Amino acid sequence: MVNYSIDGAALSAQVARLAGARVCVVGDVMIDEYLVGDAQRISPEAPVPVISVSEDRHLVGGAGNVAKNIRTLGGVPRLVSVCGNGARSALLRRVLRDEGVDAEFVEIPGRPTTLKTRVIARQQQMLRIDREETSPIGGQHLADLLRLVDAASADCSVVIVSDYGKGVVTREFMDGLETLWAQRGTRPAVLVDPKTPNFHLYRNVFMPTPNAKETSEGAHLPTGTREEILAAGRAIFDTLHCRHLLTTLGPKGMALFEAADKVWHIPTTARSVFDVTGAGDTVIATVALALAAGVDLLESCVLANYAAGIVVGQVGAASVLPDELREAIATLPVPHVDRWV
Ligand SMILES: Nc1ncnc2c1ncn2[C@@H]1O[C@H](COP(=O)(O)OP(=O)(O)OP(=O)(O)O)[C@@H](O)[C@H]1O
Ligand SMILES: [Mg+2]
Repeated sequence: MVNYSIDGAALSAQVARLAGARVCVVGDVMIDEYLVGDAQRISPEAPVPVISVSEDRHLVGGAGNVAKNIRTLGGVPRLVSVCGNGARSALLRRVLRDEGVDAEFVEIPGRPTTLKTRVIARQQQMLRIDREETSPIGGQHLADLLRLVDAASADCSVVIVSDYGKGVVTREFMDGLETLWAQRGTRPAVLVDPKTPNFHLYRNVFMPTPNAKETSEGAHLPTGTREEILAAGRAIFDTLHCRHLLTTLGPKGMALFEAADKVWHIPTTARSVFDVTGAGDTVIATVALALAAGVDLLESCVLANYAAGIVVGQVGAASVLPDELREAIATLPVPHVDRWV
């Protein structure tokens, strides 16, 4: 079994290369709204608490959070998605602008811009309200979307497909990407954050990044043990014919299938875990950005694993600054990366 030893200084030097690297991100974008307040009394109208809201925060979620993670790391994300044409789409654009994310949308009249509202009182989530429409994007809207992807990805060697199952990613969309690359004569590395029901759509991509549950569902096999993860990964190679596969394993870190028969395990570096929300977004954003910057695949995953270890220690869907990444590399115990096969 061949192991790989991390050279902290060399890895740290790679962080500097992330600055200015470009990644096109396409997928489902949403607004995460947090209404935070106090619950002092029961409503006279119904047996429910009345929340007096003192704070109304808006964060960008889904593919938008992936783009935000790239921006925070110093990269240049080019985000492409769909939204509605009402006031919420203006809010979405404003939130993205404030994050420094360059975004292009196909505005679809009458389609709601996806909004997930959480009502929180006394640190407790009381209610979540979703406004969304998940019908597949087709026809002229799909043609417009692909045109935007073509423009946004023209100078990108890496493209992320962030599939949250809200209608962007369909058979027609994935076929449309193939046609784009064929016309262009160059094929960017396409990384996919998968949604289980769409697994069959990701054939021939560069690298899907499923978590353990998605790996299990995509392979129709269990992923409880190392042997099971290896078997499930092999099954995914057989069906998708992907180039590589990155399976994130929550507290167990990640398994990088460089090939079906060449698998690395990278244990987590997280010291404290507060909130794992968005860790998957951080992983795909960091790997993609590092690859775009010319970092090799295994080192890119090691960087992503450090970045994920940082965000799980923070509250909410967080993102990582280059200095935080360098500090983690310099101060945390070096993860023991070993070959599983
Ligand atoms: N409980 C945990 N302890 C330590 N590290 C964790 C934990 N959960 C996640 N991580 C880190 O975050 C990475 C991604 O997490 P995970 O496998 O849960 O992805 P995910 O389910 O796609 O996340 P999400 O969908 O919430 O964004 C892991 O590879 C690991 O590095
Ligand atoms: Mg995920």
